[in-house]
Amino acid sequence: HEADAYRTDLMTITRFVLNEQSKYPESRGDFTILLSNIVLGCKFVCSAVNKGEEQKKLDVLSNDVFVKALVSSGRTSVLVSEEDEEATFVESSKRGKYCVVFDPLDGSSNIDCGVSIGTIFGIYTMEHSDEPTIEDVLKPGNEMVAAGYCMYGSSCMLVLSTGTGVHGFTLDPSLGEFILTHPDIKIPNKGNIYSVNEGNAQNWDGPTTKYVERCKYPKDGSPAKSLRYVGSMVADVHRTLLYGGIFLYPADKKSPNGKLRVLYEVFPMAFLMEQAGGQAFTGKKRALDLVPKKIHERSPIFLGSYDDVEEIKALYAAEE
Ligand code: AHG
Ligand code: MN
Ligand code: MN
Ligand code: MN
Repeated sequence: HEADAYRTDLMTITRFVLNEQSKYPESRGDFTILLSNIVLGCKFVCSAVNKGEEQKKLDVLSNDVFVKALVSSGRTSVLVSEEDEEATFVESSKRGKYCVVFDPLDGSSNIDCGVSIGTIFGIYTMEHSDEPTIEDVLKPGNEMVAAGYCMYGSSCMLVLSTGTGVHGFTLDPSLGEFILTHPDIKIPNKGNIYSVNEGNAQNWDGPTTKYVERCKYPKDGSPAKSLRYVGSMVADVHRTLLYGGIFLYPADKKSPNGKLRVLYEVFPMAFLMEQAGGQAFTGKKRALDLVPKKIHERSPIFLGSYDDVEEIKALYAAEE
């Protein structure tokens, strides 16, 4: 009987967010409608990935689904997608108070070999009711009101924060609902995994080189760290969030700003890491304090367990 009572108390992502939003008396369910359209996009991509859609098609399909779902939600004004050179300005009759930046398909080079890929998104609110401009999305990550990712792997899991901690929801295909499975995720303060593409080692700067050296040949007699690198940011960050450790995409001589994009890769993951008790650093400053000048600009990123990121911050500080 007890088990049945538990089974019937379905904490879907919609119900969870409605609970969260009830703390904001002025909210009239706009965020819940926005989120339900992001969830729709994730369910579409999840089913397309499981049908084995090939990469090229999936990159375009997923972008189209998210743009259409977000525009038709009537809750957005500006959209930025990794797949669209220019921002999308929603026509006035359909405008809402949110701006969404997203990577519809992250890790797309991994699609054709079946390795986990994902969708990453961040949400800003419009601070004025005039015509929307590009300035409404060229804001520091510390002004984001929510962020999350969906990982399409052995199971489909959506990890979300609306500023009150990080929560994981697993898609139950029989219900077509994301059910809360990982409430209040906290990243361990220290981990024993480092995650970086060592193939770029010859181009790294001093502090990154020193830090990775320490991971492999610890001076203080502690055990060497394990290297885990999937090559999909969503998969590497999800493992870091649950197991602890550090994920690095450093600058290198060829790409002085690294590879990952500020608005829809660095900011959402940095937001989640801080909400889970970890941190995110660019080599110069707190990642969320970056102020992007262009919608597709890049930044180096070091994120994960609080103590592990402190170590690389000390190495960059010594370099100043
Ligand atoms: P995307 O597929 O959206 O272009 O992102 C790919 C990114 C990110 O997912 C991953 O962390 C990184 O590329 C891997 O880059 P390298 O192959 O250079 O390591
Ligand atoms: Mn990406
Ligand atoms: Mn992408
Ligand atoms: Mn890409």
